[in-house]
Amino acid sequence: MNPPHFLNTQDWSRVDLDALLHQAAQFRLSPLGSQLSGKSIALLFFNPSMRTRTSFELGAHQLSGKAIVLAPGKDAWPIEFETGAVMDGDAEEHIAEVARVLSRYVDMIGVRAFPKFRDWSEDRQDRVLQSFARYATVPVINMETITHPCQELAHIMALQQHFGTTDLRGRKYVLTWTYHPKPLNTAVANSALTIATRYGMDVTLLCPTPEYALDDRYMELARRNAEDTGGSFRMTHAIDEAYEGAHVVYAKSWGAIPYFGRWEEEKPIRDAHRHFIVDEAKMARTDGAVFSHCLPLRRNVKATDAVMDSTACIAIDEAENRLHVQKAIMAALAGS
Ligand code: CP
Repeated sequence: MNPPHFLNTQDWSRVDLDALLHQAAQFRLSPLGSQLSGKSIALLFFNPSMRTRTSFELGAHQLSGKAIVLAPGKDAWPIEFETGAVMDGDAEEHIAEVARVLSRYVDMIGVRAFPKFRDWSEDRQDRVLQSFARYATVPVINMETITHPCQELAHIMALQQHFGTTDLRGRKYVLTWTYHPKPLNTAVANSALTIATRYGMDVTLLCPTPEYALDDRYMELARRNAEDTGGSFRMTHAIDEAYEGAHVVYAKSWGAIPYFGRWEEEKPIRDAHRHFIVDEAKMARTDGAVFSHCLPLRRNVKATDAVMDSTACIAIDEAENRLHVQKAIMAALAGS
């Protein structure tokens, strides 16, 4: 039997997600514990991180566990993921050995592996994460690949804190694309649509053109979730109308999927939409909305100083919650 993994929130029932959020709220009030006593987690970072690395490492420590951070290709051997590969390139070992050896040492494995940004049809297979899940005999945690489920829970927890209720149904939620000089991962945007619809909100995806729609898999998931929860989901390109009456504004930049690997062709479209920046004028159209972002955020490119420094901004609370929710996830998986 496969061990339980935390690869996507969609694989977890609402009851189980709510239990994680409840446990996270407990950890917020009482940070130290022994839930990971004698347990360990390997954290594999194929990409940089500030929040994820700090909060996982610290979280394991606070629960009396041990985290070991590895950067394959830098301080650990480069890994091959292709089945049947003739390994005469850069990779020194195969995921079949890496995942199984780590499983003999540690009790959980966390993986951060962003898309390669060359071919979305390949990237959407999430091969690094799925390979760890296939070969590991211990639970695997997604620390951001093509979705970012830990961020999803931290986000929902911050909204529940702000609104003072666990019931977010009926809130008007806007996920807005923002400008960034480089094409970025769609993971947080995919995740925002997934979790906001899962929690029954009325979700609007605001983006510059139809080309910035997310992968059909996540657009369809959002539609299905909205149907199941009694919420709603739609996409618009009209900024003023999207912000009108909103209760939540969540910002993220991402590269347009039809231009994957042909970023020089996408750049003029992106550059023409710098005005998607979240500013005070847009926020003034909302119904006193909160603003958040997963961070890192380029100030005065994605959101203005005024928005970031306003009382409406809950991005720091959301970042803090990463610590609490990840402890809840590790404790749940370690106990399973
Ligand atoms: N939001 C987030 O995952 O931050 P890091 O990239 O710093 O880990």
